[in-house]
Amino acid sequence: MRVFIAGATGVLGRRLVPMLLSVGHEVVGTTRSKRKAMGLKQAGARAIVLDALNGAAVHSAIRAARPQVIVHELTALEGRTDIRKMEQGFELTNRLRTQGTDILISAAREAGVRRMVAQSFTGWPNERGGGTVKTEQDPLDRDPPAAMRAALDAIEYVEHSVTHTRGLEGLVLRYGTFYGPGTTLSEGGEHVEQIRRRRFPVVGDGEGVWSFVHIDDAASATMAAIERGRLGVYNVVDDEPARVSGWLPAIADAIGAKPPRHVPVWLARLLTGEAGVSMMTSVRGSSNAKAKRELGWLPRYPSWRSGFRLGLGRVDERPPGTARAAGAA
Ligand SMILES: NC(=O)c1ccc[n+]([C@@H]2O[C@H](COP(=O)([O-])OP(=O)(O)OC[C@H]3O[C@@H](n4cnc5c(N)ncnc54)[C@H](OP(=O)(O)O)[C@@H]3O)[C@@H](O)[C@H]2O)c1
Repeated sequence: MRVFIAGATGVLGRRLVPMLLSVGHEVVGTTRSKRKAMGLKQAGARAIVLDALNGAAVHSAIRAARPQVIVHELTALEGRTDIRKMEQGFELTNRLRTQGTDILISAAREAGVRRMVAQSFTGWPNERGGGTVKTEQDPLDRDPPAAMRAALDAIEYVEHSVTHTRGLEGLVLRYGTFYGPGTTLSEGGEHVEQIRRRRFPVVGDGEGVWSFVHIDDAASATMAAIERGRLGVYNVVDDEPARVSGWLPAIADAIGAKPPRHVPVWLARLLTGEAGVSMMTSVRGSSNAKAKRELGWLPRYPSWRSGFRLGLGRVDERPPGTARAAGAA
């Protein structure tokens, strides 16, 4: 198949591109950077340099590429993971999920592309009441902390648009929190370094539940959704949603750091705001039953317990056989 990946050079794209090429798919990938375009070409993909918010450029790229599938992996989160500045940090990502999605969908319709796979996120968007593990059928949070409102609206926008466009077979992948090579949870990555310096504390009772996914498992789920599966939303997470009070000491142990500090909720609220407190005390995890059943996907790392020990990798690690320039700035 010929696959058009909008945002082929991000953490996920860098793992996905070689995976698709290795089984014989053709890949056309986008980036804004000429240097990263070189890396894509060296990996064996076709590269297009464009700004995804430039409608004319995207239309003409998709018209020329004539793909069977469009994959939407556009986000702008690199270096913008500070929970205290979530609203500013998500501004461009929100535009890529709204305007960027509209542009991709209209280009898909114009070029007669019938299938689209788009990224979304699961974890904090889940409703925070009731059971601790949610399925795709459960509602999203109707009353998120104010700093998360715009990001949640943009997530709902991309999910609804991709799955409600007539003539489009749209699959939305709600990735859990990434860990593994290239992510913030890898050796040298921002969050692992904060954990090592004991600057990522357990807040209150640490009852917030997180769902993780190794970056290579997120890539293999994306390949599965490109190749098969019906229209709809899928959680792409591992088998073991976990309380902060469980996974945070475990990752500290896996990287040889001292156990995390504990801070009371009132202090965390002062330091990180309501969004930070929510992440640590009340968010919910997600079930992967549907992705396993309907996409025939099985994670190589079914639990973060072994994944943190065996699959953390390094922040600057490249997938085997790919050129370094693929991820260079
Ligand atoms: N589930 C999760 O936990 C999750 C999800 C997403 C991201 N993250 C984290 O966020 C961090 C950054 O992720 P990332 O490396 O994927 O980087 P990113 O900066 O979010 O970029 C993702 C892709 O979008 C492209 N892009 C961004 N803005 C664009 C625009 N205006 N026009 C065209 N393309 C655009 C980038 O292309 P170019 O930069 O090459 O132009 C790149 O290919 C990582 O630390 C990752 O772990 C986590």
